Amino acid sequence: MAFTMPWKLRWFSLCIAVCTTLRNGAASGLPPPCDSPIYCTGNLLKQVQTAKVFSDDKHFVDMGLRESPEQVLQKFQKLVESCPDGKVSRNQLLQFINLFFTPPGQEFEPCTLQDWHENPKILAKISDSKLRRWATNLHALWKSLGRKIKEDVKNHPELHSQIYVPYPVVVPGGRFREFYYWDSYWIINGLLLSEMRDTAKGMIANFLYLVEKYGMIPNGGRIYYLRRSQPPFLTLMMDCYMNKYNDYEFLRSNIHLLELEYGFWMRNRSVIVSLDGKNHTLNHYNVQVGDPRPESYSDDLELAENFTEVTKQEVWAELKSAAESGWDFSSRWYVSGSKGQTATLQNTRTSEIVPVDLNAVLCQTEHHLASFYKMLGNTSKAQEFEAAKMRRMNAMQAVFWDETLGIWLDFNLNTRDRNKAFYPTNLAPLWAECVNSQSLVEKAVQYLKKSEASSYQNGIPTSLFQSGQQWDFPNAWPPLQHIVIHGLAKSSLPSAQEMAFQLAQNWIRTNFLAYEKYEAMFEKYDVIGDGKPGGGGEYEVQEGFGWTNGVVLQLLDTYGSRLSS
Ligand SMILES: *[C@@H]1O[C@H](CO)[C@@H](O)[C@H](O)[C@H]1NC(C)=O
Ligand SMILES: *[C@@H]1O[C@H](CO)[C@@H](O)[C@H](O)[C@H]1NC(C)=O
Ligand SMILES: *[C@@H]1O[C@H](CO)[C@@H](O)[C@H](O)[C@H]1NC(C)=O
Ligand SMILES: *[C@@H]1O[C@H](CO)[C@@H](O)[C@H](O)[C@H]1NC(C)=O
Repeated sequence: MAFTMPWKLRWFSLCIAVCTTLRNGAASGLPPPCDSPIYCTGNLLKQVQTAKVFSDDKHFVDMGLRESPEQVLQKFQKLVESCPDGKVSRNQLLQFINLFFTPPGQEFEPCTLQDWHENPKILAKISDSKLRRWATNLHALWKSLGRKIKEDVKNHPELHSQIYVPYPVVVPGGRFREFYYWDSYWIINGLLLSEMRDTAKGMIANFLYLVEKYGMIPNGGRIYYLRRSQPPFLTLMMDCYMNKYNDYEFLRSNIHLLELEYGFWMRNRSVIVSLDGKNHTLNHYNVQVGDPRPESYSDDLELAENFTEVTKQEVWAELKSAAESGWDFSSRWYVSGSKGQTATLQNTRTSEIVPVDLNAVLCQTEHHLASFYKMLGNTSKAQEFEAAKMRRMNAMQAVFWDETLGIWLDFNLNTRDRNKAFYPTNLAPLWAECVNSQSLVEKAVQYLKKSEASSYQNGIPTSLFQSGQQWDFPNAWPPLQHIVIHGLAKSSLPSAQEMAFQLAQNWIRTNFLAYEKYEAMFEKYDVIGDGKPGGGGEYEVQEGFGWTNGVVLQLLDTYGSRLSS
């Protein structure tokens, strides 16, 4: 039955839709994840995600539009008006989506990575024949993870949630159909070992393009990630590329963009810690953006269902800050529950915590910017960044170093306490080489040796606490293995170097056993059992997998003559 509403009533329903959005975003003073009324805010998103039309909320926000957003919203409004209470049934939603949306994954065209070739030199470095065959397969996997974004995304950005970038990208794999910021650091390192110079350079050029366009790098290649970033590895990527190819022209024409991205972190993500009469500037993850994450909408809505509107918005901002840290989610970002209750995901307060690893990454960024400017002959700029690095090293020492445990610890701005729990990131200053004295290196190595964490044969666990979240025990993640192993390997202590090799051997064995069993590479592994993927969190474990392959190739490059299967 055709049904036309009197105009007054129609205006009223439109107001409900608009006013709901305003109430959410505006009352708390927080902007939405992005401005799109399809992908980031509004009634259509809310109805589709709360009806759980798809099993993974990311499905809907990765779909493309067949008509302009205005037309689609207008037609949706008609549908809403035809439904009692404005609630569209799940079946009608599905029909609507089928009419006006294209399935996810259509923004890419087939992409041959032109610089791929058989037999990069790294393979000859690997003595164990099984490991060499495996590395050959991993090297070949890059071909299946390469994507080129269609020109249509550039010409009609309003029809896509995908963010256009000019050069081919290597994606992580699985549900991660777009590039991710910090994942790309390990992917690029793997590509460099695979001698894929153009692909690696293109990925760096994509990030520079994003900095130029947005002043920062979004978490990943979707507009719903636009107001949050991820651990800032861009300058470190450039350093890896420069170490291999000395491409001064590329560096010279882009160094202002590296500095611009650094500036984003210093302007938008810094915090002053006053301690013992001194002020220290350090950085934290802090995404002051409201509303549920579009790609995990129903999870966020349910998690906050019993909270007041203001608390909801606060918790949603803190969840986004956790996503920005790369550790989504983890007991590392929990603060104590009220009335002695056990802390849960609802107690996530990421912005209250000053993390060791973020500051170690920025310390390295300052170091590289100083040496880049020196290479380019700009002494005053080089001195400026050298001074910034010295200031940060002093701040890290004052705020993070715990003399009793002999290690760096995250600092809580609210309780003004250090978090004594084990995380692999506690050792990040070793990897970043942001340590003033050799005696601290020795203590940090002792800390790891004495820690229960080093007793697991399958890799270093993310924490020693089993919260059910994916960045906690018993999961072990490739980037964290890299940070610990390379941190120990950089030390001049023979015992630390030997420990690095042993940890590398453990990790390679875990990855290889799982590969033999499942014929797949996973985003994370379980430190318990006999080579199996990790679990927990809000989605199924993903295969592919960009950073896993990158870290394995790096370990095989470093220790190829000694590692065994
Ligand atoms: C960074 O801060 C500036 C100035 O406060 C603000 O206009 C901008 O929106 C912020 N950017 C992000 C991505 O938060
Ligand atoms: C530290 O910063 C606060 C403001 O954030 C200021 O009031 C105080 O004077 C500063 N202290 C020192 C020692 O600079
Ligand atoms: C909200 O409260 C209800 C009733 O007490 C409870 O069943 C539900 O689990 C709560 N939701 C969350 C996410 O805590
Ligand atoms: C160094 O860089 C700054 C900022 O880009 C510029 O203003 C200055 O002229 C440069 N100095 C030299 C010696 O190139």
